[in-house]
Amino acid sequence: MTHPPDHSQPPAKAHWTTLYSPDEGATAGLGAKLAAGIGPGMRIYLRGDLGSGKTTLIRGLLRALGVKDTVKSPSYALVELYVVSRLNLYHFDFYRFLYAREFEDAGLAEYFRGAGVCLVEWPERAGDALPRPDLELSLAYAGAGREIRVKAYSTAGERCLAKSKDA
Ligand SMILES: Nc1ncnc2c1ncn2[C@@H]1O[C@H](COP(=O)(O)OP(=O)(O)OP(=O)(O)O)[C@@H](O)[C@H]1O
Ligand SMILES: [Mg+2]
Repeated sequence: MTHPPDHSQPPAKAHWTTLYSPDEGATAGLGAKLAAGIGPGMRIYLRGDLGSGKTTLIRGLLRALGVKDTVKSPSYALVELYVVSRLNLYHFDFYRFLYAREFEDAGLAEYFRGAGVCLVEWPERAGDALPRPDLELSLAYAGAGREIRVKAYSTAGERCLAKSKDA
């Protein structure tokens, strides 16, 4: 378990990496690798078209942390909570937002200020209201698989990315 990220400290330069995921298992596997570097207060945002694999990756991450429950898209509930030892993990999906203000109207900002881990699908639908992530993943269709671009925006995100490469 690492220290809470200091979101006021941007890294000297954003570190990023691009990988190719041939199938669903590989995308879940990347999630599992990222799990090794997850700590309190971290925010991971996942961008990408419908069916690009955001939920699949989050499922792999949660499974690796020991979540046994079914991990399904929280589209209707907006957020699903998973508790692993002393870590609260919130899985959000803002696809259904019709306007960015819904994020504040629904009282969700609170979640992003605490020690909970925030995993967000469709972050762009919340507009500017969302604070900066530690890691941003962009998934895109590439042939039969997916291209996944991972970008770290904080030292906590950089650490998580570095650990995933060793995992
Ligand atoms: N390389 C791959 N990585 C992930 N999923 C893949 C891959 N190749 C095929 N798939 C398939 O694509 C689908 C991905 O679905 P998933 O629910 O993870 O997408 P999503 O990005 O969360 O979509 P949504 O925006 O609707 O929430 C699954 O049916 C999965 O089997
Ligand atoms: Mg999804």
